[in-house]
Amino acid sequence: MIAIACDHAGPALKDEIKAMLTEMGETVKDFGTHTGDSVDYPVYAARAARAVASGECEKGIVICGTGIGISMAANKVKGVRCALCSDSLSAKLTRMHNDANMVAVGARVTGPELAKEIVRVFLTTPFEGGRHQRRVDMLTSLENGQELE
Ligand code: RB5
Repeated sequence: MIAIACDHAGPALKDEIKAMLTEMGETVKDFGTHTGDSVDYPVYAARAARAVASGECEKGIVICGTGIGISMAANKVKGVRCALCSDSLSAKLTRMHNDANMVAVGARVTGPELAKEIVRVFLTTPFEGGRHQRRVDMLTSLENGQELE
């Protein structure tokens, strides 16, 4: 199950991404918003991010105007590693190296075809593990207030 959420900048892109995910055979849980009426992106980020952190959803996609605010908000949820991507190489590498479990895109920054490609690459690229696991573990340590050295 893939979590998806957006603020008022993102419903049209969210719908396009949902259609692609369905074609890919994914099940999608849509946490809103559904219209262009102004809302607060942290609310929608939290809904999707908590679903990923709890394990209800395997991965998550969040969208706002720039992708910045909603990625910042998602990253406040313990256990979430949300990468803001505006190119598909970053989407690939954040899976391979950071084991990102959420991706953010900016609906006012990134066109729909590129945004869909970013999401497709994000969802189909595995984590590489190895030396990257140690660094991802350090992210968790930071999140838990532990010293790194
Ligand atoms: C909303 O106007 C806008 O601030 C929001 O979509 C996002 O870009 C915030 O980071």
